[in-house]
Amino acid sequence: MRPAMSVEIGSLKLRNPVMTASGTFGYGEEFSQYVDLEKIGAFVTKGLSLKPRAGNPTPRIVETPGGMLNAIGLQNVGIDAFIQKKVPFLRSVNTPAIANFFGYTPDEYAELAARLDAIPEVAALEVNISCPNVKQGGIVFGTDPGCAASVVAACRAATQKTLIVKLSPNVTDIVEMAQACEGAGADALSVINTLTGMAIDLERRRPVLANVTGGLSGPAIKPVALRMVWQVARAVKLPVIGIGGIMSATDALEFILAGATAVQVGTASFVNPGAAQEIAEGMEQWLAERGIADIRSLIGALEG
Ligand SMILES: Cc1cc2nc3c(=O)[nH]c(=O)nc-3n(C[C@H](O)[C@H](O)[C@H](O)COP(=O)(O)O)c2cc1C
Repeated sequence: MRPAMSVEIGSLKLRNPVMTASGTFGYGEEFSQYVDLEKIGAFVTKGLSLKPRAGNPTPRIVETPGGMLNAIGLQNVGIDAFIQKKVPFLRSVNTPAIANFFGYTPDEYAELAARLDAIPEVAALEVNISCPNVKQGGIVFGTDPGCAASVVAACRAATQKTLIVKLSPNVTDIVEMAQACEGAGADALSVINTLTGMAIDLERRRPVLANVTGGLSGPAIKPVALRMVWQVARAVKLPVIGIGGIMSATDALEFILAGATAVQVGTASFVNPGAAQEIAEGMEQWLAERGIADIRSLIGALEG
């Protein structure tokens, strides 16, 4: 018998727990020739802002041992072009599309949440309070629990859809951030975004990235992400979406054991554009081989 693979995140029902991570899967269409979108649970679109953004100057990506650094600077088409040019594709696929977004003030966050709420093709919202490469007006929503709560509350008031809050790992206490978001009305938490890092070109005696620092992703961050997912899942009642260095089905299953209800695959899609689908299939096969009837029996089932 095939194992039951479906999970729920708020009111969102997923056929399996594997999604693609924001910023690593375009707006869905770009990867549709490599991945059968109906074989993954959901896909998350590139972070949207009210106005289009050109992003940071180049170079803005560098490979590092075990991962990559990016300082894309949240380049995106903006909400108007998203509605005109990207939403028609979302209509054509039978897989939930989750819109990731960010603003510079709680009002901007709320306006985006309201506009995305009005789009039937958007199944759920993922609010990025991390913005690791963009700082505006001295407010860093992702590192102050009070600021995070005000942003989440503003978005909560603006949408009926499942509201996922994506947390930054660049904090002293991720549990405090998670609890602030839970208290402000989040339906789920995505854990984690990238870790701030840098790379240096020794001969040129310069930082490799034009932005100097960037966000580290890939296998290098998996142990940190696993630890944070485990900590957060024990401290809140909300479903947690595990993210960070998931390259294989076994990586994904480790996150589920640590307490994640679902996972997102990011950097792996740059190495192998079909990674998310292969990971979903590999998870199902792993369960089938062991006679495990339902993926949900593994959520938080870490022993010891
Ligand atoms: C090139 C690139 C762009 C990204 N853009 C976004 C973004 O727009 N919004 C967001 O919330 N996260 C963004 N992320 C973070 C990823 O969604 C994910 O949280 C992170 O890469 C860790 O997962 P991974 O190790 O599987 O890549 C981006 C990551 C990369 C590598």
